[in-house]
Amino acid sequence: MARLLGAWNTGGSAAYRELADVVRLLVLDGRIALDVALPSERALAETLGVSRTTVTAAYAGLREQGFLSSGQGSRARTQLPHRMAPAQAPGIVAPDGVLDLAYASLPATGEVVHRAFADALTELPALLPGFGYDPVGVPVLREAIAAHYTAAGVPTSASQILVTSGAQHALNIILRTLAGRQQKVLVDHPTYPNALDAIRASGSRTVPVPLPAAAPGTQLPGNGSLAGNGPGWDVDAMVAAMRQQRPAMAYLLPDFHNPTGRVMSDLQRRRLVREAAGTGTVLVVDETLRALDLDGVGTTPLAAFSPAVVSIGSLSKSHWAGLRTGWIRAEEGLLARFVATRTTMDLGGPVVEQLAAARLVRDFAEPLGARLEALRRNRETLLRLLAEHLPEWSFERPRGGLTVWCRLPAASSTALAVLAPEFGLRVAAGPRFGVGGSFEHFLRVPYTLPEEQLTTAVLALRAAQDRLDAAPQLRRTLKEPEAAAIA
Ligand SMILES: Cc1ncc(COP(=O)(O)O)c(C=O)c1O
Repeated sequence: MARLLGAWNTGGSAAYRELADVVRLLVLDGRIALDVALPSERALAETLGVSRTTVTAAYAGLREQGFLSSGQGSRARTQLPHRMAPAQAPGIVAPDGVLDLAYASLPATGEVVHRAFADALTELPALLPGFGYDPVGVPVLREAIAAHYTAAGVPTSASQILVTSGAQHALNIILRTLAGRQQKVLVDHPTYPNALDAIRASGSRTVPVPLPAAAPGTQLPGNGSLAGNGPGWDVDAMVAAMRQQRPAMAYLLPDFHNPTGRVMSDLQRRRLVREAAGTGTVLVVDETLRALDLDGVGTTPLAAFSPAVVSIGSLSKSHWAGLRTGWIRAEEGLLARFVATRTTMDLGGPVVEQLAAARLVRDFAEPLGARLEALRRNRETLLRLLAEHLPEWSFERPRGGLTVWCRLPAASSTALAVLAPEFGLRVAAGPRFGVGGSFEHFLRVPYTLPEEQLTTAVLALRAAQDRLDAAPQLRRTLKEPEAAAIA
């Protein structure tokens, strides 16, 4: 232990704090293994030639931060502090105790993400002599992302990658470069609400192209499973809108679409790219949910069909939204324009996050097996609960992603979202996913919670639906919900 600690006592701050900091780093980078007993306070104090109080205070600090077990009797053992009570984590239960299904997001792939940060810290010193500004992204991360695309069948070099602070940041950069006032942006309808907000904020007008309704037989109340590829997209309507309305860009979610969970077939991808080519509309594809391929569809990235496609990626759903790391992949000429736009907003991303992200992207699939397995279970649980408790609702079975798009028998989505918190649940009303007040007949329900909480959530929806059924006038008299955060 003394050898590992080395010259820990620099005099830079209180000795107990320095000792604790060094032990923490040793645990984080794996040089002190997990679940090993540290020397007793007395023995370490003697060996290091410090007072016992110093070691006691250092151990107490480590215990408080979760790096040492607090078991009685035995000596303190090393651990990582990721075992927080899940109910305390933001995004699962809001501070007021309300279950949060307005966010379709998951906790971190715990140990994997933590370890990536620990490794990143050991790589950091090599970058400290630089200025720390890198508007395109740290080279190792750009290389890792490029290799990830290449492995997925889209040959890509690091010079085609711009690292961003998440997919939403990426979209804003693209909108500011390609769209703006007097311009139009084609969108799937429904689509991801924060994208609609970003398009509005850019001053562009949306051109919504409806996703075809699932055929009647596929939306049977209570068991609305959908076989095969489902109804997909209306490529003819998309291309017609491009020809007639000349949108500057299209923002599309072909890979486990949020909120429906649909996936665009290769046939439709090929046709869309071919027919969009002459229209002047840049196809921008958000692949944030691409890794959440619950049915093992194995989608081909849209960029495989044309180098002109602009792709947005993110680690938010595959690994953790707290990384705030995403990217844009585009042809080099266009990428240079995105970089110029980016520097009007910020001058680069934080370095440690990017180093951690590089580790995660290099070993992209490592945490996904367990994550997909849990999500598959949650999906089945939610579909079963909906069929059992809300048989008058119908739904399309999502092929991947995080959410079920439910069709309601009446235009009551906003009223349900307003009532739900009374029953301990927050949900995003259907109209958030569309323009012009559409989708009052729809509600998005994520399957991001474990079974017990999903049961509570569905029972809360049942109770809210019962309240509405008993007093239908509530649908008109309830106040619109505030535009609360959703993802
Ligand atoms: C389709 C889609 N795009 C983008 C985002 C936001 O991603 P990020 O956290 O990388 O900004 C989400 C998150 O819900 C999403 O579902």
